[in-house]
Amino acid sequence: MTRLWHPFTNMATVAGREFVVDRAEGVWVWTEDGQRLLDATGSLWYVNVGHGRVEIADAVREQLVKLDSYNIFNDYANRPALELADRLAGLAPVADGHVFLTPGGGDGIETAAKLARRFWAVEGAPERNHLIGRASAFHGAGGFGTTIGGIEANLQDIGPLVGGVSRVAYDSLDDLRAEIERLGSERVAAVFVEPVVGAGGVLPPPAGYIEGVAALCAETGVLFVLDEVICAFGRLGHWFAAERFGVEPDMIVFAKGVTSGYQPLGGVIAAGRLAAPFWTGDGDYFRTGQTYSGHPACCAAALVNLDIIEREGLLARSRELEGVLADALAPLTELDEVSEVRAGLGLMAAVELAPEAIGAGITVPAVFEATRAEGVITRPLGTSLGISPPLTITAEEIGLIPAAIGVAIEAVAKAGSRAG
Ligand SMILES: Cc1ncc(COP(=O)(O)O)c(C=O)c1O
Repeated sequence: MTRLWHPFTNMATVAGREFVVDRAEGVWVWTEDGQRLLDATGSLWYVNVGHGRVEIADAVREQLVKLDSYNIFNDYANRPALELADRLAGLAPVADGHVFLTPGGGDGIETAAKLARRFWAVEGAPERNHLIGRASAFHGAGGFGTTIGGIEANLQDIGPLVGGVSRVAYDSLDDLRAEIERLGSERVAAVFVEPVVGAGGVLPPPAGYIEGVAALCAETGVLFVLDEVICAFGRLGHWFAAERFGVEPDMIVFAKGVTSGYQPLGGVIAAGRLAAPFWTGDGDYFRTGQTYSGHPACCAAALVNLDIIEREGLLARSRELEGVLADALAPLTELDEVSEVRAGLGLMAAVELAPEAIGAGITVPAVFEATRAEGVITRPLGTSLGISPPLTITAEEIGLIPAAIGVAIEAVAKAGSRAG
């Protein structure tokens, strides 16, 4: 009997048959019963520097021994939180960035949504409160994030969602422009954009889309919020994906790769002009935050993680490997069961199964399971398998991914034809 209720999971399919991961090193993980697997997803898109980095563990231990935790409400601060805020503001292409720390990405999205509305309210335009998201997007499990997100299944049966939110196609600037015009730009607070849609299936933006959103926001005054929870810290080959597209968002939401998952941490980097009403003159309250905002052990982990990314040149390495990953996966499209491989923008990819294959029982869960039995962990994402390995992976190890998926598809197809 198990008591652990897993996130985003049908427990009837899992209870009593959990896949218990016991230890990890580099790009490899081991289960409790000794199976070694290639972690081709970096857990949930976050183990950017790879597993088993003792120097991050040491930094966390040292910090916990010195100061286990202390909140940063009111005038309290701790040195790692102050240093991390400085460091992130210096790295991010956000004008005069001010950093709000949260325990994770979803809380970062809630914070960004509130700040977008609150900013316009203190600017004297409280009616400017509409938020726009995109179909297929994922922005976390909070109230705002769930509503702004566009994965249909996540929106079902949870009653009325947050008001004043709408969604547009993920790949059409015209659709976004039409929605802003329909509402009137003076009513739209912000638009939320994942640089590459992650959980929705690794959907890269059409050429010019991100730049186009930035231009449209500049033209209409709508705030441009880039959700870089997956795409920052090297996933797209830069500290922030915004650099890849040459854009300067009003806010960047981050999490995951900021600590490579060694500690839970996220946040928002907000442009100085959004912070100004709260920071200057008489100032004002921004009434949000979490108990563990700015937790010193999480910030200490982030600082060492950023050191590792810098010291080992992992941004450049990611840029080199994205083509290697795309080339390695491309031959899978020769299989009848694979309709598409989406890869080449960042060290992330998706292998899409053909509808006919899925109809014939070669389903994503079945192929995922069979790939894992072959020793490679991918991630089921709707009709595709997602891939987002640590940035430390080698070209040789990348080669194991399509090999395992190919064998898995064949095995599932054979098992199906035997059963049939
Ligand atoms: C793009 C994006 N935004 C937000 C989130 C939510 O982050 P968290 O799970 O840390 O709350 C995720 C999580 O996968 C994500 O992929």
